[in-house]
Amino acid sequence: MSDRLDVSFASHSADPEAVTVILAADGVALGPKAKDLDTKSAGGVMKAASAADYKAKFKSTLEILAPAKIGIDRLIVVGLGKAATLTELQIIEAGGILVSAIEARKCTSASVIVDIEGTDDKKTEEVAALLAYGAQLRHYNFKKYLTKKSSDDATPSKDGLRKLILHVAQPDKAKSAYAPLKAVANGVNVARDLVNEPANILGPVELAEKTLALEKLGVEVEILDVKAMEKLKMGSLLCVGYGSERPSRMAVMVWNGAKGNKKQKPICFVGKGVIFDTGGISIKPAAGMEDMKGDMGGAAAVVGLMHALAERKANVNAVGLIGCVENMPSGNAVRPGDIVTSMSGQTIEVINTDAEGRLVLADVLWYAQENFKPRLIIDLATLTGAIMIALGKEFAGMFANDDKLAEELMTASKATGEKIWRMPLDKAFDKAMDSKNADMKNTGGRWAGSATAAAFLQRFIKDTPWVHLDVAGTAMDGAKSDLNQSWGSGWGVRLLDRFVADNYERSEK
Ligand code: BES
Ligand code: MN
Ligand code: ZN
Repeated sequence: MSDRLDVSFASHSADPEAVTVILAADGVALGPKAKDLDTKSAGGVMKAASAADYKAKFKSTLEILAPAKIGIDRLIVVGLGKAATLTELQIIEAGGILVSAIEARKCTSASVIVDIEGTDDKKTEEVAALLAYGAQLRHYNFKKYLTKKSSDDATPSKDGLRKLILHVAQPDKAKSAYAPLKAVANGVNVARDLVNEPANILGPVELAEKTLALEKLGVEVEILDVKAMEKLKMGSLLCVGYGSERPSRMAVMVWNGAKGNKKQKPICFVGKGVIFDTGGISIKPAAGMEDMKGDMGGAAAVVGLMHALAERKANVNAVGLIGCVENMPSGNAVRPGDIVTSMSGQTIEVINTDAEGRLVLADVLWYAQENFKPRLIIDLATLTGAIMIALGKEFAGMFANDDKLAEELMTASKATGEKIWRMPLDKAFDKAMDSKNADMKNTGGRWAGSATAAAFLQRFIKDTPWVHLDVAGTAMDGAKSDLNQSWGSGWGVRLLDRFVADNYERSEK
């Protein structure tokens, strides 16, 4: 695990650290506590701001060194822009921005005076919790394999911000508001760790066994080995792993958190867990192939989501399922032209062994429906390069057979800033998957590669409301943001946690 940031809450009367952050709304409007500091330092903050022509626009920062009379080495002002229109997401982002401002100065601990001009005291504790959440997300890094201390700016450093103290009127209140957010941040960071871990360390067995850590949060975990999957006739998933020395696994994580309704049908989350995708016999070109260690980003998000739901004791029944395989070329590997039989009984002609993710998902989706009769299924998969051609690195593609479900996800997407864009399911794409030699083939030709892949998956969906998220662009090497600087982004954990919280944690719908 990467180093976590130690976040705590203290009362305003406690002494702030040598490095202290204050917030300012547009035009350098200070909250009451920050104003006190300014007064104590004989107007030093406002003087510095005006000398620097600083206006406290959103995301802007100002550093004031050794302000007079207040015994603080540095004051960092973080701009919030217009306080009246500040959204929840912007406050979370401000938490990320303040961490980056502190880390740019190589400080290891800092205080934040939490008060916003015009915001009542009650809200301040919530603001502190959101800032802490954003700070925790931004602070993540993956430096476990760096063995040297840095001597200059060019070398990545293992040292960074360690301790952040947020000063509020009622620390206990802020702490309890932060608890569920911390659970989600932990879930995101679990997913990032899994994606960043190289494939020599994290094989299919290791990935599946990572889910066992969820047992201490009350999640029931079952891991199916090759024998168990052969018994279930999961010929589609299994053929992908036959070229690898390392055996395939499926992990099933069950969280029964629904209060007063133990029989509530679960929501299922399915993840593609290709720990490395060489392409198999249809081998990929060498350039950039190292990125295929992240081809388990969908599975990582499912594990991170289950962590978040369990740690914050979500009032819902949810099941996470991940298919863990390695796609390698070898004498045992599946060949183009081979025909395999999936758990559903449908046969598949493998045209391209690099279209392996859908082969894995076909059986996991079927297993999920057979075993859990879920009220809905959402799968996440780094499925196609084509989705990046269509949508770039900021949006995931969403394919949905149910408009209400698509709407719910769209709303959660807007709230969390994890962007999705709806793509079409259509008979024409389905037809492209027909094969002369089997019930279907695994590739659909040159055009609309993401949509034909989705059409393939749909052949394994019964009448369950279902969404497929193609996260090839967002799960790894995505656009860096105020909340993420990591290659493995943990994308989808915040989106789906929010989706569950907003729609499925109240009474049965
Ligand atoms: N894992 C890849 C998709 C991918 C590519 C994810 C780049 C992230 C970055 C997937 O298994 C794949 O190889 N898809 C093929 C499908 C094709 C053979 C029909 C693709 O997109 O080229
Ligand atoms: Mn592939
Ligand atoms: Zn793949």
